[in-house]
Amino acid sequence: MKVLICETHEAAINRTAELIETQVRSRPRTVLGLATGGTMEPLYRRLSELHRASLSFAGVVTFNLDEYVGLSPDHPASYHSYMQERLFDHIDIDPQNAHLPRGDAADPRAEADAYDRRIEEAGGIDLQLLGIGRNGHIGFNEPTSSLNSRTRIKTLTRSTREANRPYFDAGTEPPAYAITMGVGTILDAKHCLLLATGASKAPAVAAMVEGPLSAACPASALQLHRKATVVLDQAAAAEL
Ligand code: GLP
Repeated sequence: MKVLICETHEAAINRTAELIETQVRSRPRTVLGLATGGTMEPLYRRLSELHRASLSFAGVVTFNLDEYVGLSPDHPASYHSYMQERLFDHIDIDPQNAHLPRGDAADPRAEADAYDRRIEEAGGIDLQLLGIGRNGHIGFNEPTSSLNSRTRIKTLTRSTREANRPYFDAGTEPPAYAITMGVGTILDAKHCLLLATGASKAPAVAAMVEGPLSAACPASALQLHRKATVVLDQAAAAEL
């Protein structure tokens, strides 16, 4: 695992964007795995700027990590809406090439199985972007997730639902379930690139990088990966 500690939050965002840019320029038909969450918002703004300055995503295929069960793509708090508003509306990706699990599928289990097949048919993920939850989750693989799990339905912990509450209207309960790529699905990516910023992530980052390999911290599975890069600002690196 390569850990890059950047002086500032902005430097961590720019470094992560550069790594994605290098990948897309060297392989215009790259298969990118994408993540959501507050951490990714400035990164997607930076990628949109790079697009305006000439970086094309026209040949890129994307697969997002996860989606809430029960939300249709046009629900304002769905990850479909998040991706559309924060990235896809600002770059030249072909909408047919941008994949997320369907949270409103009639059979969410079948949707999860089909999602893994779609990733395989696309040739697998070249670069998987990841955030980290305060409890060490990646995607929505909460603590105790099997380290070789595949895309499936997961029950969200109370702390994760609370962390994501700001995305939902007041009085609306965040969903209890999500379809998420499994830890094994994530580890299949050729390169895993995890971005964590801010002091609230410091304990989870320390557990991921220096803690024991354990399902108690699903992100620690990245210790097994042949090519994992972790980009941090100083606040997120504070407990290393
Ligand atoms: C959600 C997402 C994760 C993300 C995490 C951290 O739970 N499913 O992919 O890494 O939130 O989000 P944030 O960046 O808002 O802290």
